[in-house]
Amino acid sequence: MSNVGKFVTFEGGEGAGKSTQLKNLAEHLTKLGRKVICLREPGGTPLGEELRTVLKSPASKSMMAETEALLFASSRAQLVGEIIVPALKQGTYVLCDRFVDSTLAYQSGGRGLDRSLVESVNRLACGTLVPDLTILLDLDPTHGLRRASVRDQGQADRFELLDQGFHQKVRAVYHSLVAAEPQRFLVLDATQTPSQLDEAIWHEVTRRFL
Ligand code: TMP
Repeated sequence: MSNVGKFVTFEGGEGAGKSTQLKNLAEHLTKLGRKVICLREPGGTPLGEELRTVLKSPASKSMMAETEALLFASSRAQLVGEIIVPALKQGTYVLCDRFVDSTLAYQSGGRGLDRSLVESVNRLACGTLVPDLTILLDLDPTHGLRRASVRDQGQADRFELLDQGFHQKVRAVYHSLVAAEPQRFLVLDATQTPSQLDEAIWHEVTRRFL
C-alpha cells in the first residue's frame, strides 16, 4: 500500500520511554499544522483496549503463547482496518506505540513461536501495511525493567514479570530486525536524555518527510 500520510511506529523493550517520545513527536507535527493521531498496541480501539487489559493482566498467567500471539494480532487487525488505513488515506501522520515488530520480538523471540507462522498471522491482520519509519529505543533490559518498575510503582504487568532471559531475547530480535531492514529503522540509545532523544527523532522525521 502506498501511504498518503505517514505511518511511524515506536518500538523497544520495557521502560524505554516510547510513549514520551511519541507524545513529543505528535506535538512537533501538530505545531506545523499536520494532522496527527496517536495510537498504542495492543489497544487503540474499544475492542483492542479490552484485549489490552486481558493481555497485560497478571491474572492471565495461564495464557498459551499461541493465544497471546493471536490476541495481539486481533487487536492489530481491528486497529489497522478501523483507524490506521482510513487515517493514512486522509493524509494523517499515524504514530503508533508498538506494531508487528513487537510481536516478532516478544512472541517469536521471547516466547519462541515459529517466526513464519507469526508473520502469516500478521499478514492477515495488516495486509501489506508496513511502517514508513520505525524508531527503536534500544535499552538493556536490566535498566529498562528497573525504570518500568519505578514508573508503575511496582505494579508489574504480565510481561514485566518475565525474567531477564526473556527480555534479552526480545532485544536480540529487535537488533536482527534492524539488520534485515536498516532503512526502515532509526535506532537510538535510550539511555540518552529525553530531550536528546526528542531532538534526534525530530531531526530524522524532518529529514525524511518534511
Ligand atoms: P506497553 O504498551 O506498556 O509497552 O505494553 C504492552 C506490552 O505488550 C509490552 O510488554 C510488550 C507486549 N507486546 C507483545 O508482547 N506483543 C505485541 O505484539 C505487542 C504490541 C505488545
